[in-house]
Amino acid sequence: MSLRLSLALDAGGCVLPDEGRIAVFAPRADLDLSALPKERVLILQPQRPDFESFEAAGFTCLPGVADLPAEERFAASVVFLPRAKAEARLLVAQAEAVTAGPVLVDGAKTDGIDSILKHLRKLTETSAPLSKAHGKIFWFQGGNNTLAEWIPAALSKVEGYVTAPGVFSADGIDPASALLVASLPEKLGRTVADLGAGWGYLSSQILSRSGVELLHLVEADHVALGCARSNVQDARAQFHWADARKWSAPEQVNTVVMNPPFHAGRSAEPELGQAFIAAAANMLVASGHLWMVANRHLPYETILSERFAAVSEVAGDNRFKVLHAQRPRRAKR
Ligand SMILES: C[S@@+](CC[C@H](N)C(=O)[O-])C[C@H]1O[C@@H](n2cnc3c(N)ncnc32)[C@H](O)[C@@H]1O
Repeated sequence: MSLRLSLALDAGGCVLPDEGRIAVFAPRADLDLSALPKERVLILQPQRPDFESFEAAGFTCLPGVADLPAEERFAASVVFLPRAKAEARLLVAQAEAVTAGPVLVDGAKTDGIDSILKHLRKLTETSAPLSKAHGKIFWFQGGNNTLAEWIPAALSKVEGYVTAPGVFSADGIDPASALLVASLPEKLGRTVADLGAGWGYLSSQILSRSGVELLHLVEADHVALGCARSNVQDARAQFHWADARKWSAPEQVNTVVMNPPFHAGRSAEPELGQAFIAAAANMLVASGHLWMVANRHLPYETILSERFAAVSEVAGDNRFKVLHAQRPRRAKR
């Protein structure tokens, strides 16, 4: 429940215009938005599972501002602050640019609400912050183009690849993924899926292996997938903005390669990686292979041996392990 938003609107003195659409940036799926008039709300959420959850609850949703008509202006906006600083600034600046009325910024202390407030105060006039539930909410008037410097002029390139604020491993190639690539065999089979493809590092390397005819990049983060489209310009690549736990391949694949996520927001959730392993087993042909990398402490061996006939650790160090699993077993019903 967004207690801070209710506080700002009920007693805190922030008045929403009576008419016009309200843009809500980056709300997580478990957030209660009942303080807002649902029929006027547009959710801007690049993370597919959260997007699907708001869509199922009857909200109108888009992945991000790039999908809005250029002339669209909102009566008000609410930004739920993400943790990555550059992404937080980008979202607040995007909200400012597309909003004629108040822009509310709601964030936990641990997500840097104090730091962004301090910087915003130098650039625009903000309300006094209201504090509740280990965080703050404040607001300022949008539509004055005061935060343009927070919107990068061009996508950044690191180590030759396009990345973006807030995407996984935005600063360069992830060392675990590099270890996985070094362990991959020369032949991967005809059809391959990269689950949680991020900005496309593994996929770019998979396509350098001979014999690959079709590669599915499955990624939940719309922004990361946009980067992958730039980084993997190859007719064999197909891009899917999807939750890999639910995505089904058009036909079963020979190989899955992945560096699965194990965090949902701040909390470590090994179930996420375990669900990726189950999804991989379901989409592979009977003779199929799974190649994956994980942090050494993650408990993946039990599900791997339940869902595959043969499992081995093929490389590793004290931080990571590269696992190879063969011949999926069908899920028990
Ligand atoms: C550890 S990163 C690996 C990224 C990339 N493959 C690489 O090696 O650099 C895991 C990726 O999974 C994505 N992800 C998280 N949950 C997902 C889900 N349910 N479905 C698909 N992708 C997801 C994250 O956005 C992230 O890009």
